[in-house]
Amino acid sequence: MGLDVTICPISVDEIDAILSLDRLCFGGLWSIDSYRRELTNDNSHFLGITVKSTFDPETPGLIGFGCFWAILDEAHITLLGIHPQYQRQGLGQMLLCALLDKARSIEMARATLEVRASNDGAIHLYEKYGFQTVGRRKKYYQDTGEDGVIMWRGGLLHPHFMHIAKNLV
Ligand SMILES: CC(C)(COP(=O)(O)OP(=O)(O)OC[C@H]1O[C@@H](n2cnc3c(N)ncnc32)[C@H](O)[C@@H]1OP(=O)(O)O)[C@@H](O)C(=O)NCCC(=O)NCCS
Repeated sequence: MGLDVTICPISVDEIDAILSLDRLCFGGLWSIDSYRRELTNDNSHFLGITVKSTFDPETPGLIGFGCFWAILDEAHITLLGIHPQYQRQGLGQMLLCALLDKARSIEMARATLEVRASNDGAIHLYEKYGFQTVGRRKKYYQDTGEDGVIMWRGGLLHPHFMHIAKNLV
C-alpha cells in the first residue's frame, strides 16, 4: 500500500491529534481531560499507529490509537480506533496485537474489553484474535440503549500467543 507504518507509545504532546482521531473514530468519546488523565496514568498503556506515505508526504500522521489499563494480571482494553480512511487494511489487527503484546510483556495473563452489541466489525476482529463473549451488560450504552458485550481472551503468557503477536507487530 506504499505506507510506512509505525506503532509506538503516544504522549500527551499529541493530544490535538488524539482528539481529532477520537471525533473521527468514535464521534467524541472522551474529553480532553479524560485523555490527559489516561496519557499520564502509570497503569494506562497508550499506543498510537502512525503512517507516512512513500508517495504523499502530506499523509496525516497519527491514524489509530489503542489503550489498556493494567489491573492485577488483566489488561482492560479501553480504546481501539483506526481513522475511517485507513480501515480494512489490517491496521486494526496490527494495533490490537501490539496492545496484547505490550500486555504480555508486562506479565498480563488475560485481556478483556466491552464492545457495543451492534459493532460487528470490532466483534469479528476480537474473535479473530481469540476473544470470547462471556456476558452482556443490558442496555449499557445510554445513547442507543444497546447492550455491551463483554469479551475475554486468556493465554497471553502462553508461548503460542507470543508467536502470533510477534508475527503481526
Ligand atoms: C474496529 C476497527 C478498530 C477495526 O480496524 P480495521 O483496521 O478496519 O480492521 P482490520 O482491517 O485490521 O481487520 C481485521 C479483522 O477485523 C474484522 N473486521 C474489521 N472490520 C470489519 C468489518 N467492517 N466487518 C467485518 N469484519 C471486520 C475482520 O475479521 C478482519 O479480518 P479479515 O480482514 O481477515 O476479514 C475499526 O473499524 C474502527 O476503528 N472502528 C471505529 C471504532 C470502533 O468501533 N472501535 C472498537 C470499539 S470496541
